[in-house]
Amino acid sequence: MNKERKLIIAGNWKMNKTVAEALALVKNLKLEVEKVKEVDIVVCPPFAALESVSKEILESKNIRLGAQNVSENNFGAYTGEICIGMLKEFSVRYVILGHSERRQYQKESDALISKKAKAVLGASLKPIVCVGETLAEREGGLMEKVLETQVRGSLAGLTSEQMNETTVAYEPVWAIGTGKTATTQQAQDAHAFIRGILAKMFDENTARKVRIQYGGSVKPNNAHELMSQQDVDGALVGGAALEARSFADIIKNSI
Ligand code: PGA
Repeated sequence: MNKERKLIIAGNWKMNKTVAEALALVKNLKLEVEKVKEVDIVVCPPFAALESVSKEILESKNIRLGAQNVSENNFGAYTGEICIGMLKEFSVRYVILGHSERRQYQKESDALISKKAKAVLGASLKPIVCVGETLAEREGGLMEKVLETQVRGSLAGLTSEQMNETTVAYEPVWAIGTGKTATTQQAQDAHAFIRGILAKMFDENTARKVRIQYGGSVKPNNAHELMSQQDVDGALVGGAALEARSFADIIKNSI
């Protein structure tokens, strides 16, 4: 597939996989995607497995490590949190921020996500900032309003240079883990809308370079169609990333 922007496909393992299971998964994945050069591949294991997975992909040319979240603070009395310095010890390159599950269960706000994004970028890591509407919001005709608020709020205060290092993930909440995928047209429309907001916030050139991933029930059988849309520049994959073969098939089918 001839894309304007290099595809970035990330696996979000969420709260799944013990260290042993994570290692088995990444070992198999390495073999499956050995020859892939066309896609930036990212795996985001739970914190407890970061060190082992990091060692396993140390020499990998195409698989990079991501974390699922990070604190906006650098150290201190924040029980249960993890800071950027700790992630960097394991050569983490990407950090998912503002996933809808964190927005919902941890009540993460756009303002907090923007603080985290600035901290991540300040430490030369790359944020993957998630946005997306719920079913009620879509059905209530609020999709554009919600996306605009989230994009503007979560990326507030970033410079164009920082935006060049940032990936946006469009994940309609109603499609996550439900087996319901947005149609290719729905995905393309939302991505184009988000790119338009980025052009207004930053400039046309910056917006053109930003990679926007689609997330929500991406599977081997729908990856190609989704990735063939002009403004879809990759995928953030949950369930189908928990198995090496299906994640690899998503990657291969996207090329
Ligand atoms: P899913 O999750 O692929 O299981 O729908 C996507 C996500 O939450 O990133």
